Amino acid sequence: MRHLIDILELTVEELDELCKKATDIIANPEKYAHKCAGKKLATLFFEPSTRTRLSFEAAMYELGGNVLTMADAGSSSAAKGESVADTAKMISCYADIIAMRHPKEGAPLVAARNSTIPVINAGDGGHQHPTQTLTDLLTIRAIKGRLDNFTIGLCGDLKFGRTVHSLINALVRYDNINFVFISPDELKVPDYIIDELKEHNIPYEEVTNLETVMPQLDFLYMTRVQRERFFNEQDYIRLKNSYVLTPDKLDTAKSDLCIMHPLPRVNEISVKVDSDPRACYFEQALNGKYMRMALILMLLEQSGDGKPEPLDGELIVDELICDNPKCISSTEQELKHMFRLVNPEMGICRCVYCENKKVRGA
Ligand code: CP
Repeated sequence: MRHLIDILELTVEELDELCKKATDIIANPEKYAHKCAGKKLATLFFEPSTRTRLSFEAAMYELGGNVLTMADAGSSSAAKGESVADTAKMISCYADIIAMRHPKEGAPLVAARNSTIPVINAGDGGHQHPTQTLTDLLTIRAIKGRLDNFTIGLCGDLKFGRTVHSLINALVRYDNINFVFISPDELKVPDYIIDELKEHNIPYEEVTNLETVMPQLDFLYMTRVQRERFFNEQDYIRLKNSYVLTPDKLDTAKSDLCIMHPLPRVNEISVKVDSDPRACYFEQALNGKYMRMALILMLLEQSGDGKPEPLDGELIVDELICDNPKCISSTEQELKHMFRLVNPEMGICRCVYCENKKVRGA
């Protein structure tokens, strides 16, 4: 059974294949118009979405398939307390593939381990958003013709912005990518991602000022400050206007800069920037539909015997308890807490659902 929970589950070769497939779909849509005839996609969205849910649904319709949709948690039995695991078991009876968005980090992983059909992570809390990354990669490739040798600035809420986390994880595998992280101190990239960059000697810098780094960027990836992830509304209010991209701030930018944003934007890119030829974010959103078509085809072609993923297949440490209230392990009935041992010398472990760090024996 093949799922997509984390972008790292796809090899560089598979990412290339998906980009090529999406490009072919754009050029020859009629070739793909019946590829999913008789198949059903279930979109299970426990959090709001415009682009991801509707582009998944448009993707399945354009492949000749059908869609079962659950657009909000309140209309499902989750509102009565049904677990993610039971929900996944049920949907496996009705559909052929699931796209799930959930506020709890690791929820799609729990779904995958209890499902007999492929599960796609359509965004889990502030953790990961791998299909947005597929969209981003197709956009970068379409514009520059390659996925290596560039400097990318990621700006805004790098702590809670799940699209940023997945995109960094994808790009570290390409040659000569320089990362510039632009954020307030409170919204810096999480340490589990910084640890990976350090381990692989990937160059990065962390700054607070966008204007000073603007001239060096080939891509500027703006992000929204994620109000829904804050514990404290006052913190959100203080940080929400940290970066607002206006036309004057682009005066020092490269003429072939590409401005990206996963959207939705709130106010971090002025609408006056939309008419700048360097603004690519609406093209980026369109690419999402084609990449999701390519992904649905790949996962359905590669789905195996329908057996659920083993619950403890990668269990390394099970004596630790995750205390992250945003982790699915904080709410899911009888879910076994599991950690990966990422640094045996120091006993550092990370929760398999949310990456929360614990030290063994501490
Ligand atoms: N980029 C993105 O995930 O948008 P939605 O929240 O509208 O799906």
